[in-house]
Amino acid sequence: MKEEKDIYILGIESSCDETSCSIVKNGTEEIATVILSQIDVHKNFGGVVPEIASRHHVKNITMVIEECLEKAGMTLEDIDSIAVTEGPGLIGSLLVGMEAAKTLSFVTGKPLIPVHHIAGHIYANNLESRMTFPLLCLVVSGGHTDLIYMEKDYSFQKIGGTLDDAIGECYDKVARVVGINYPGGPMIDKLAKEGRHTYQLPTPLNDDSYNFSFSGLKSAVINLAHNLEQRGEKINKEDLATSFQETIVDTVTKKTIHAMKEYKVDHLIIAGGVSANKKLRDTLTEECEKIGKTVSFPAMKYCTDNATMIAAAAYYAKKRGDIASLSISSKSTLLLK
Ligand code: KG4
Ligand code: ZN
Repeated sequence: MKEEKDIYILGIESSCDETSCSIVKNGTEEIATVILSQIDVHKNFGGVVPEIASRHHVKNITMVIEECLEKAGMTLEDIDSIAVTEGPGLIGSLLVGMEAAKTLSFVTGKPLIPVHHIAGHIYANNLESRMTFPLLCLVVSGGHTDLIYMEKDYSFQKIGGTLDDAIGECYDKVARVVGINYPGGPMIDKLAKEGRHTYQLPTPLNDDSYNFSFSGLKSAVINLAHNLEQRGEKINKEDLATSFQETIVDTVTKKTIHAMKEYKVDHLIIAGGVSANKKLRDTLTEECEKIGKTVSFPAMKYCTDNATMIAAAAYYAKKRGDIASLSISSKSTLLLK
């Protein structure tokens, strides 16, 4: 039998505040990755400043690509295809990665594979253990809270999503109320381990749909903090973090488990930055165990933005025939399909 040739894809991700390049073999094996985070640059502004982010991507992208090839001990000749995040994200940031990828594709003559940022987050799961179909994917990031049914590789059917704020956005805003810098999600997660559920907060949208709504919960936390402040009372940060986290994780878990039953899937995967959350991991693991289903998460290093996930997803995007011409441009909003 003829052995299949190994496929090496070089991926580029620059949709927000991380400039990243990675080389992945056959969609599942990371060869080398470089991630340059701009968190320190943006944290004093309380969030990512798009113009500053683009400038940093421009400054760093070539170095990041060069360093990644060096780390892998490879040259562009060893690479089969160039993959890049097409969208969604900050347009100025996306364009830097896109132009770099187009240039590499142009000079090498290798195919250019556009990848949806969320497809990347989803395929970060495949780097750990194989995804088994059909499966349900819970996407929880700074910009998304979606439930996606996947019948097979690179087939995405959205069955629900947030009607307003994304879960990560909500974590970051709640963190800001208690004086924590961007991105506040990881710190809220940490504080919540030390607190108790003492503050009564409204339950987010609790209907039969697979949609989410977190803006009411977010406003309730902001109002609570302001009211306490006006009365001269001190807010207990740990207790607020626990109360908020338990409320939000409970809602997300209930809807996810319900969808798994209705769609008759045995495998649940979690994707996006908030998949690093300890409480979410523990609760989903417990609930899946109760109904005899499997849940898997990306490794912590693949939870937040990185190019490894883009190069991993691109292997399957290419199999589906997703090859772009050099006239392609980035998209700040883009549906996953
Ligand atoms: O996926 P990601 O890196 O960027 C987007 O594509 O949006 O996600 C970033 C989000 C931020 O809102 C950050 O606060 C949140 O993920 N996050 C967390 C945790 N780690 C990162 N939220 C809650 N708990 C965590 N441990
Ligand atoms: Zn992301």
